[in-house]
Amino acid sequence: GLATGEHSYKYRMLEGLVVPPYVTPARLNLSRTIATQPADVCHCSFPKSGSTWLANILYLVLHDGHEPGQGAPLRSHLHWMESAWTYPRTREQVDALPSPRIFKSHMPHHMALAGGPRQSPCRFIYIARNPKDVCVSYYHFESGSAWSGGYDGTWEHWLRLFMDGRVQRGDWLDHVLSWWEVRGEENMLFLRYEDLKRDFRGQLARIAAHVGVQLSPKAVDRVVAASSFSHMRAAPFSNHKHIADFQGFFRKGEVGSWRDRFTVAQTDAFDRLYTERMADSGLTFTFE
Ligand code: A3P
Repeated sequence: GLATGEHSYKYRMLEGLVVPPYVTPARLNLSRTIATQPADVCHCSFPKSGSTWLANILYLVLHDGHEPGQGAPLRSHLHWMESAWTYPRTREQVDALPSPRIFKSHMPHHMALAGGPRQSPCRFIYIARNPKDVCVSYYHFESGSAWSGGYDGTWEHWLRLFMDGRVQRGDWLDHVLSWWEVRGEENMLFLRYEDLKRDFRGQLARIAAHVGVQLSPKAVDRVVAASSFSHMRAAPFSNHKHIADFQGFFRKGEVGSWRDRFTVAQTDAFDRLYTERMADSGLTFTFE
């Protein structure tokens, strides 16, 4: 489909949600009905919120802080069930994978893997990021590559799509709040990108505890080193170079890069909308 206006943007409507064309009804059904176990981990997020960073951390935590010396890249260790793009796994293949499995999902809670934390014993981790940085990161990502939405419009139009909830995965706040509401479940951990930037070791301890791993001080140091932006961007294991040499996953890695794009008027309109809509949630973000 095409978004309204003169700009093209590829997407599909699935149960009322804007999703990438490679999220098909059959894959969503498989994702919802896959059998999960307590040892499994599923990291969830709205796009561009730090999911690759979190995936790398999870892999390292589950492997004593070691990247594999050679062989399959990070992506092939993540089971992104809702996606038909480069993830042709069948139910039988997924059932046969060794434990613990790392699942990835960009779905809102009502479309969650295996029914989400209230219905599945899997450990869920959601990562959220301030919406201005998400919006800018997503703009670069969707404009930068043929395999994503292939967006070819202006920043201004993109901002309108984002604020109207018409980008892939729909409305950012609906998505985040749907997971924020279940944050109290025992098998659920809610993280923020800005907390990882500010206090990596503290957040790493929460992640390790959530997946039931006790890391030695040396293993912690290995995770810290192998999860830095510069390391991940360079390392063949994590840099996603095998995906059409696409660098949209490692652009800046900073808090506050929205300032490069948002005008004062855009900031005012955006802040007004989100402050109002978030007021009662108790969820807050830092933007600098
Ligand atoms: P920017 O575009 O603002 O740089 P996702 O993996 O969910 O698609 O999110 C991508 C965003 O996470 C990008 O944001 C990317 O640079 C950032 N990122 C990736 N690895 C990171 C790391 N190790 N530390 C901080 N940010 C990271």
